[in-house]
Amino acid sequence: MAKKTITVGIIGFGTVGAGTARILLQNAEIIRRRLGAPVLLKSISDLDIKRDRGIRLGDVKLTTAARDVIADPDIDIIVELIGGYAPAKEFIFDAIRNGKHVVTANKALLAVHGEEIYAAAEKAGVNVGFEASVAGGIPILKSLREGLAANRIESIYGIVNGTCNYILTLMMNEGRKFDEVLKEAQAKGYAEADPTFDIEGIDSAHKLAIITMLAYGTPVRFDDIYTEGISKITPLDIEFARELGCKIKLLAITKMVNGEIEARVHPTMLPESYPIATVDGVFNALSVSGDAVGSTLFYGRGAGDLPTGSAVVADIMDIGRDILSGCTGRSPLAAFRERANLKIRKMEDITSCYYLRFAAIDKPGVLSKISGVLGKNHISIESVIQKGRKEAEAVPLVMMTHEAVERNVRKALDEINKMDCVGGPTMVIRVEEGKQS
Ligand code: NDP
Ligand code: HSE
Repeated sequence: MAKKTITVGIIGFGTVGAGTARILLQNAEIIRRRLGAPVLLKSISDLDIKRDRGIRLGDVKLTTAARDVIADPDIDIIVELIGGYAPAKEFIFDAIRNGKHVVTANKALLAVHGEEIYAAAEKAGVNVGFEASVAGGIPILKSLREGLAANRIESIYGIVNGTCNYILTLMMNEGRKFDEVLKEAQAKGYAEADPTFDIEGIDSAHKLAIITMLAYGTPVRFDDIYTEGISKITPLDIEFARELGCKIKLLAITKMVNGEIEARVHPTMLPESYPIATVDGVFNALSVSGDAVGSTLFYGRGAGDLPTGSAVVADIMDIGRDILSGCTGRSPLAAFRERANLKIRKMEDITSCYYLRFAAIDKPGVLSKISGVLGKNHISIESVIQKGRKEAEAVPLVMMTHEAVERNVRKALDEINKMDCVGGPTMVIRVEEGKQS
């Protein structure tokens, strides 16, 4: 008999679990009309089922026993929203073994164990939806897999961590302190359970691993992604950026360069006129360039209960459509039926422009000593700013470079940071100019 109802069980009733349940219950009618069948939220499992989540659950069953939900023969789709590696991974594999489709927002798990999960799902003939794992409510994965499928993807520049963008925006626009703004982002439900994942760029790198896999059809080892966060960015750098007509954003960048993939996450200085530089607060954006389509820009909320729940429910509906029409695997999980095995370029080999802030001792000849080492390493200087005068003390000296090779910059800084006329490690921020929309 043809299936008439899509039945769902959620594991994890936290920020995203609650957002997902709210959408499924409040928008049940529009979901039914779009799908042509109702989506029934049958059970929710969480460690704490006493806490009031502010949602009228009606007949939805609450349980602490996740495995009962996974084993329930009535449930078609298991939605994993607990996060982390264990027991999330076991729950997903159990669900797949039980012939259930899976939806997850767990980018940390997918970035490290995605390949095993996709292979197991494909073997079992079930689907895995993970739109919510990257950029919250923005349908970027579906766009890469389907809407942009005709293209060779040339580059993707993304602001994919709402917490970092929120922190950088409030530091820049309101002069607020890093720690204070991070606490606010945590209270709003944007941050990961361990917020160092956000501020050290790890969450962005998890997302970049997923985006890169879909863009180029190649498995990406999470450890191959160069990752640097925003914790070292100081108000002084934000002030210099403003003076230079720039903003600092944590960017996740992937691009194809001479047949190799660059995949890196780091704070980036961008001219403030660039569209992606105007993306503030918890908002995310991805600038995607394809050889046929040219430049595209995706923008929306990157974290929070309802934006992320929106992506989770879209995946449930997508899988629901397949269930109703009796098929799976119409669109390959990794976007390519035939995978490639492209090389990820070493960070030392990339080229970029650089913002270098030296702690230069204020005495004659220092500027020429520093620029001499840069010149010797093939790094040419575009402009120099020196702030303040404190004879024989360290003052900030900023140099903006033309395009240089990362290896040469590291070599030069190794030498400069050891010089007597330099009073501390040099701050390095990569600069993107004219390469993205
Ligand atoms: P939360 O911590 O708010 O929610 C997770 C919930 O799962 C908690 O209520 C937790 O209970 C519960 N839980 C933990 N272990 C179990 C278990 N064994 N069985 C049942 N329930 C369990 O996290 P989020 O909702 O913020 O994040 C969920 C996932 O979504 C993560 O993978 C995250 O990376 C991802 N994500 C989050 C976004 C966001 O904006 N928050 C956006 C995009 C993705 P307890 O609190 O008692 O431990
Ligand atoms: N902690 C993540 C962020 C949640 O701040 O972007 C969304 O993935």
